[in-house]
Amino acid sequence: MRMRRLRWSLVTGFGAIALTLAAVAAVQEEPAAPAGEQEVAPEQEAAPPAQAAPPAPPPAAAPEVSGFAEPGACATCHEDKAIALKKTTHGRTEKKTWDGASSCESCHGPGAAHVAGEGDKTKIRNPKTLSATDVSAICLTCHERGDRSHWMGSQHEGRGLSCLSCHKIHHEEAPTAKLLKEKTEFATCSSCHLKRKAALMRSAHMPLREGTMSCVSCHNPHGSAGPSMLKQFSVNENCYTCHAEKRSPTLWEHPPVRESCVNCHDPHGSLHPRLLVAKQPRLCQQCHDEQRHPTQPYSDASSAPEFFPNSRMFDRGCMNCHSQIHGSNHPAGMRFHR
Ligand code: HEC
Ligand code: HEC
Ligand code: HEC
Ligand code: HEC
Ligand code: HEC
Ligand code: HEC
Ligand code: HEC
Ligand code: HEC
Ligand code: HEC
Ligand code: HEC
Repeated sequence: MRMRRLRWSLVTGFGAIALTLAAVAAVQEEPAAPAGEQEVAPEQEAAPPAQAAPPAPPPAAAPEVSGFAEPGACATCHEDKAIALKKTTHGRTEKKTWDGASSCESCHGPGAAHVAGEGDKTKIRNPKTLSATDVSAICLTCHERGDRSHWMGSQHEGRGLSCLSCHKIHHEEAPTAKLLKEKTEFATCSSCHLKRKAALMRSAHMPLREGTMSCVSCHNPHGSAGPSMLKQFSVNENCYTCHAEKRSPTLWEHPPVRESCVNCHDPHGSLHPRLLVAKQPRLCQQCHDEQRHPTQPYSDASSAPEFFPNSRMFDRGCMNCHSQIHGSNHPAGMRFHR
């Protein structure tokens, strides 16, 4: 009984995957744990009386019920898949046996019945035919941490995407980086996000189509705690990671800059220079009154130089004078002139 309990605790120790397999593994004949590991503290022995009745061993403990095929069995009929998988990270990091399961079976589930049935399709799990939630659940047994910890509840998960919307496990040719469906991250994202792809074809853009950056420079496609699945907690934090010079608190702040860079810039591309969301001077005049610097051409009535000689804005950019638009550190930079 002592051994049985120890065995259970050992089994649970194998981590999330092993856990799912544990139910099956438990019906297998297991090798006795090495003598040295049988040390169990006496007080544990006197644990809650309820436990005195040990978890009854599953009734039919016949070894062949394990459901797992012999190691290497899959490759005898699916040689192409096995060879190709070897070239991928999954193949390279595979464990030959995992409580009896071959690496194929860590995703496809126990396959002994499938083998016995000479490839009976109904006896094996094909992720292609599963629901998005079920596919992702398979992958998440190993990958739920780190970058993927916000997958549940993310926009992508909520809209019915699965890991296979972007990843491909079995590549016939050389595997892509990160096992992506398409050759690049950009191509993978733009297969659905056509609007963003189109925006990047505009004249002003960050170097995504040149390949220096990609969508995942800013977004975590697996979900994030920030807005719009950004890797950072806010838009500005995102921009500062690369444009650090815009971060510093300045003596004279321009409020819309501190609020959000996307007040004036479209990070996905724009027809206006510097990724601006509108043409000058309309960009500024979305917020600033036109009265101060009127934008209509000189009329006869107002062309007399004695009236506001320099206040007309026709054909001039606000930035010609207000050049420090992101904020100024000059003592006299209140109007962002310097
Ligand atoms: C005796 C040969 C044989 C062995 C061994 C074998 N398979 Fe198959 N497998 C087949 C055949 C035949 C098919 C059906 C192909 C078809 O009808 O398109 C198949 C189909 C599949 C499918 C697709 C099922 C579907 O719904 O389309 C998967 C997944 C699969 N096998 C995985 C495995 C795994 C994992 C193993 C090892 C545990 C394995 N196979 C071992 C012969 C085999
Ligand atoms: C990391 C998870 C994973 C591992 C490991 C894995 N597969 Fe698959 N397998 C998949 C997924 C996902 C699919 C669905 C189609 C796809 O993505 O290519 C699939 C599909 C298949 C298919 C059906 C192909 C089709 O066209 O429908 C076969 C056969 C197959 N796998 C065999 C194997 C064999 C053999 C191994 C071990 C050498 C293996 N798989 C290892 C995840 C895996
Ligand atoms: C049995 C555990 C296990 C399962 C199940 C599993 N993986 Fe993996 N996967 C690994 C390991 C181990 C690595 C290599 C180490 C790492 O990157 O974390 C890896 C690496 C990856 C990588 C990075 C590949 C690279 O070349 O850098 C991707 C992408 C990936 N897995 C996707 C998936 C998807 C999608 C599924 C579900 C169809 C899946 N994995 C199921 C264990 C697993
Ligand atoms: C919307 C597309 C998309 C979806 C959906 C998606 N991924 Fe990814 N995944 C990517 C991209 C792009 C990368 C490479 C960039 C990166 O590391 O963020 C990646 C990278 C990875 C990596 C490698 C990370 C590393 O640091 O090497 C793993 C593992 C992974 N994905 C697993 C998963 C799993 C598991 C799921 C399902 C829960 C999933 N992905 C769903 C696009 C996606
Ligand atoms: C330089 C950083 C950056 C890059 C690169 C980037 N994005 Fe974004 N993306 C953002 C920011 C910031 C937002 C939030 C915009 C907002 O709040 O208006 C956003 C928002 C989005 C949204 C949601 C839009 C909405 O209205 O909520 C989608 C979809 C999107 N991006 C897709 C992509 C795709 C696809 C790519 C690659 C082609 C990409 N992004 C590249 C920074 C970036
Ligand atoms: C299979 C299609 C598909 C692929 C591939 C895809 N997405 Fe999405 N994405 C969606 C859908 C659907 C939504 C939800 C759109 C909505 O709600 O308007 C979405 C939403 C988003 C959002 C907006 C999140 C928000 O909070 O509004 C971002 C950012 C995003 N995707 C980035 C990416 C990136 C980066 C990639 C590539 C790694 C990618 N997507 C690949 C389908 C896809
Ligand atoms: C991953 C790094 C990275 C992030 C994050 C990033 N940028 Fe950039 N940005 C660049 C690079 C690289 C360039 C090109 C610099 C060059 O050409 O000299 C650039 C250029 C620009 C330009 C000038 C474009 C032009 O046409 O001259 C603007 C404006 C800009 N970024 C705004 C933003 C905003 C707003 C954000 C936040 C939403 C942001 N960037 C986030 C890397 C980044
Ligand atoms: C009030 C509108 C506005 C806001 C908000 C704004 N910018 Fe700008 N930004 C501009 C204008 C206008 C230019 C063009 C300057 C020029 O043509 O000389 C510009 C140019 C840039 C450039 C390229 C030239 C340079 O100075 O390096 C980058 C990078 C940039 N902005 C980043 C940012 C970041 C990061 C934020 C958020 C912290 C931000 N901007 C917020 C208006 C704005
Ligand atoms: C999203 C709205 C918004 C946009 C767009 C915007 N500003 Fe501002 N701006 C403000 C606000 C709010 C203030 C602070 C006003 C205050 O403190 O009374 C300000 C202050 C200023 C000031 C200092 C004025 C003062 O009274 O202190 C100048 C100069 C200025 N902006 C110029 C510009 C220029 C040039 C542009 C275009 C590149 C621009 N702004 C775009 C909202 C905006
Ligand atoms: C020819 C140079 C020049 C141009 C171009 C210019 N400004 Fe000014 N702006 C000034 C001067 C000079 C002041 C007054 C400074 C003062 O009174 O201290 C000023 C003041 C302002 C103020 C402060 C508010 C106020 O009433 O005092 C705002 C806001 C402003 N400008 C916005 C703009 C916008 C928006 C544009 C583009 C449509 C623009 N400026 C174009 C020179 C210019």
